[in-house]
Amino acid sequence: MTIERTLSIIKPHAVAKNIIGKIFYRLECAKLLIIGCKMLQLTPTQAREFYIAHQEKIFFKNLIQCMTSGPSMISVLEGENAIYSYRQLMGATNPIHALSGTIRADYADSLTENAIHGSDSSISAEREIDFFFNVHELFSK
Ligand code: CDP
Ligand code: MG
Repeated sequence: MTIERTLSIIKPHAVAKNIIGKIFYRLECAKLLIIGCKMLQLTPTQAREFYIAHQEKIFFKNLIQCMTSGPSMISVLEGENAIYSYRQLMGATNPIHALSGTIRADYADSLTENAIHGSDSSISAEREIDFFFNVHELFSK
């Protein structure tokens, strides 16, 4: 059993649709604990730094526009195999390919506005959690 942490972002278009609770409920059902949480409107500088791995991609400008368009709900999740387990709950990046019952299948509006972000590896999770949270803002069980 590996207890991991992962970073979750409910993207601005999903926050605007008032579905934070619906998404959090799915996390709770999957035994992912929310051990830290904050609502932030990312600045363009923050969004570009967060998604730096994608800076050369054609969708980068759209992605930054989407991520800075309003407040995001950013949280740290903890649980057994949290990184993989949350990616499974999220569904594929492109909602057209997301399995039915996943968060993206149900709540994405487009490929860019695909409702949520989740870390894709333990290295990314560590970087992304440190990007938004300090140790005093996380409340492990
Ligand atoms: O979010 P995820 O890890 O599933 O996908 P990614 O490949 O790391 O891409 C980051 C984000 O860029 C996605 O969640 C989409 O919002 C956006 N994206 C896009 O707009 N168009 C693409 N062809 C690929 C990704
Ligand atoms: Mg990714």
